[in-house]
Amino acid sequence: MKIAFFSTKPYDREAFEPLAEEMKCDIDYFEEKLDSKTVSLVKGYDATCSFVNDDLNSDVVQALRDSGVKTILLRCAGFDSVDLEKARELNMPVLRVPAYSPEAVAEFAVTLLLAVNRKVHLGYNRTKEFNFDIDGLRGNVLKGRTAGVIGTGRIGKATIDILRGFGMDIIAYDVYPDMKSDIKYVSLDELLSQSDVITLHTPLTPETKHIINSDSISKMKDGVILINTARGGLIKTEDLIKALEEDKFGGVGLDVCEQESDYFFEDKSHVINKDRTLQRLLSFDKLILTGHQAFFTEEAMNAIAMITLTNFKKFIEDGDLTNEVNLFLESLQE
Ligand code: NAI
Repeated sequence: MKIAFFSTKPYDREAFEPLAEEMKCDIDYFEEKLDSKTVSLVKGYDATCSFVNDDLNSDVVQALRDSGVKTILLRCAGFDSVDLEKARELNMPVLRVPAYSPEAVAEFAVTLLLAVNRKVHLGYNRTKEFNFDIDGLRGNVLKGRTAGVIGTGRIGKATIDILRGFGMDIIAYDVYPDMKSDIKYVSLDELLSQSDVITLHTPLTPETKHIINSDSISKMKDGVILINTARGGLIKTEDLIKALEEDKFGGVGLDVCEQESDYFFEDKSHVINKDRTLQRLLSFDKLILTGHQAFFTEEAMNAIAMITLTNFKKFIEDGDLTNEVNLFLESLQE
């Protein structure tokens, strides 16, 4: 059983290799992304395994089918990198890792919140230069403030648990509210206008694309802190930049951004023509941008490896489709 892994790094091998041997999966690790240019590499493999910034568009999915690939594996929770319509049309299962460590991402979202609120990044830079002046580093106490959580799935809920520990009041918005929970749901507009902190935890879908734009930002309080550890496409970057220029935000913490696919997970420090939008974003003192590292804990990597290979084995041996994405989306409609 041969799997072609794409977008791999040494840390992927470290997590997958010991298990692959145990589970008798034969893995070839490619550093390249899976996209139209690299899809020809997949001949002779039973499956491909991709990460968040691969591009499995309609042509790529078709080429995978034509090459005899039996299933597309995703070693991540998000599924916006795959043309799911095409996969459904071709009866090509897309098996993902729906939950590996929601706490890993939730803890990182809160890390960004604490850091931008208390200006840890600015203080760190100052003390490195023996500048111990704290002027300009004042933050706010979170206790008693309102956090608005958009998307109350696994990660949203784990984030709520942590924020409650700080004594924050929580309000939430979700198209499928969990009525069995004690979460206080409000409309999106209410959440935008009442929150001191807004944190995004929805998948990227046609409905959530650019959910944060000039219009939604105008409904937010001045001085609001915005955190995005979900997907870059949830925020319209040019509108965010405009609002940052108008000093709308108290802080912005991003682990993902619209421009990430050409840059993230790679050392691009030597590139001369750097992306101008990214450069502009990085120029704001109130913003911290990290390179899609929220998931990156030892626990999460081990769980991702175990679930990805189990998805593959169970599908090949028993036709099991427990973590199939199109079936998951259909179940939401019921
Ligand atoms: P989940 O599926 O458990 O929860 C997503 C929630 O969003 C659900 O409650 C769903 O009803 C809600 N939702 C869907 N469409 C919506 C809409 N139009 N408006 C409002 N709510 C909507 O997913 P989970 O595990 O909580 O992950 C959330 C996202 O976080 C993933 O889709 C992925 O994109 C991102 N993620 C980022 C990571 C990182 O390292 N930065 C790692 C893992 C996930």
